Amino acid sequence: MDAKINLIVNGRQRTVTTDPERPLLDVLREDLQLTGAKYGCGEGQCGACSVLLDGKRVFSCRTPASRAEGKKVLTIEGLAKGENGESLHPVQEAFLAEGAFQCGYCTAGMIMAAVGLLDEKPNPTDPDIVAGMNKNLCRCCSYPRIAAAVRRAAGQGSQNTQHAATDAQGTPEAQDAKGGR
Ligand code: FES
Repeated sequence: MDAKINLIVNGRQRTVTTDPERPLLDVLREDLQLTGAKYGCGEGQCGACSVLLDGKRVFSCRTPASRAEGKKVLTIEGLAKGENGESLHPVQEAFLAEGAFQCGYCTAGMIMAAVGLLDEKPNPTDPDIVAGMNKNLCRCCSYPRIAAAVRRAAGQGSQNTQHAATDAQGTPEAQDAKGGR
């Protein structure tokens, strides 16, 4: 039986009427038109659906909507600031600067995992980065650039500057870093 679920999505109070067991990912994508989080495996194994729930990364494909009752949900669409989202989050900037994507399918989930990691550990070691990001899969194997982006966002500079994405800005894949596809 459907139920009313109240949640705060990207700072905005929202109410949906849905099956409480329905995946949060479906509520975000289908009911709230927030399509940044992606359906990947549907089993919580790839990380493409990652969002933050009360600041902690969850796999929204495996999170029942009822678990979000009264909680804050942060998706990739809620990261940028400014009236038109013109001020990107430092992690988004770092992914763009490092060109940390190819097809871009994993990017929103990667960025949300990185935001969760850096909120918890603002100055992560390389093992921290591996541990924090290893539940997110990139089928294009952009892992070195992704790790470089996390280091850059943490203010540790880039060890991958030869890949700095002079050509990445404005590509369709770059839109995934902003939640725009
Ligand atoms: Fe293609 Fe990660 S899955 S960039």
